[in-house]
Amino acid sequence: MIKEFCEELPKVELHAHINGSVSENTIEKLLSRKQKSDHQYSFKKGSTATLNECFEKFRLIHQLTDDTDSVYQVTYDVIHEFHEDNVKYLELRSTPREVPKTGMTRELYVEAVLRAISKCEAENLDIVVKLLLSIDRRNGISVGHETVKLAQKFQASDGERVVGVDLSGDPNVGDGRDFIPVLKEARDSGLRLSLHLCEVPALQETMDLLCLPPDRIGHGTCLHPEARGRQEFVDTVINHKTPLELCLTSNLIGQTVPDLDNHQFRFWYEKQHPCIICTDDKGVFSTSLSEEYQLAASTFDLQPSDLWRLSLSSIDSAFCDEQSKEKLREKWKLCKPQIEKRFNLKLESSGYQTQKSI
Ligand code: IMP
Ligand code: ZN
Repeated sequence: MIKEFCEELPKVELHAHINGSVSENTIEKLLSRKQKSDHQYSFKKGSTATLNECFEKFRLIHQLTDDTDSVYQVTYDVIHEFHEDNVKYLELRSTPREVPKTGMTRELYVEAVLRAISKCEAENLDIVVKLLLSIDRRNGISVGHETVKLAQKFQASDGERVVGVDLSGDPNVGDGRDFIPVLKEARDSGLRLSLHLCEVPALQETMDLLCLPPDRIGHGTCLHPEARGRQEFVDTVINHKTPLELCLTSNLIGQTVPDLDNHQFRFWYEKQHPCIICTDDKGVFSTSLSEEYQLAASTFDLQPSDLWRLSLSSIDSAFCDEQSKEKLREKWKLCKPQIEKRFNLKLESSGYQTQKSI
């Protein structure tokens, strides 16, 4: 029953990398278009890998999405798949990439993503989609700067959709502090910041990045002392009420947590801190948002009411305006009686505190 419940639950996805979310179906389409044979683009359920192996998968996928048509196709399919999984609000993030041999520039890349989002809007899919541009820490500050300039440009011309900037890429490469001026520049022009932070122990950069402060944190795996973090990191996150985007399967496969029992979800959830269940890379990690909710339920003994409150309170942390959030809450309210009837249960709205809207 919990499986069906998680599938029917209206959901919010706030941490999904476009190229990491590519399904096997889409990979097939790309392979046949490029007349290539099959490779291993994702991990089988239950498998583990090193972070390097995870990044190797992204590199392989990037070889398939090296032109604007593929980027469009991938984005279009990913939106449809999240829609089929009952995701009502989706924030995609992606690293604008240039590929000289196909003529794809970073700007054309973003245009292709936005075109796919517009197409889905024109199809009247019941899903709101926003975009964050990712700064890959491996690519250095000048590309980071260029990415922020692009985000600002599209924010001005397409303000509804481009809502923020993400800092991501291999956490073992470079120093996140180098990007602080670039991130401040983004924030000063009204873009929201979601930062991959403390995915691996990173004492040097964490405090400075936390003090920006970001609008949301991706992973935050090693913030708390039990995970080789620091109490002052925890205090800062709590003081700023910075929501955490938590991705169970991704952390398990990437081995940034020893096992799910020791996943940071428990630590933050018990503190009633805003936690958002996300997929990270549903394609590479062979998962879906419904499966992530299910996994959270079985690992942390969450009941349907807890899952309902988690999905509803995720709206508070979205990077859209307050009016759009109200519309989403209305949607949840409307479908609640149907879900209660179908599963013969009463979904309690109180208990887990709804957090401030960011
Ligand atoms: P893209 O930005 O749409 O090309 O999605 C793939 C990219 O997302 C990867 O190359 C990484 O830079 C980033 N990414 C995906 N998952 C993670 C993660 O768990 N940590 C850091 N970066 C990630
Ligand atoms: Zn991520």
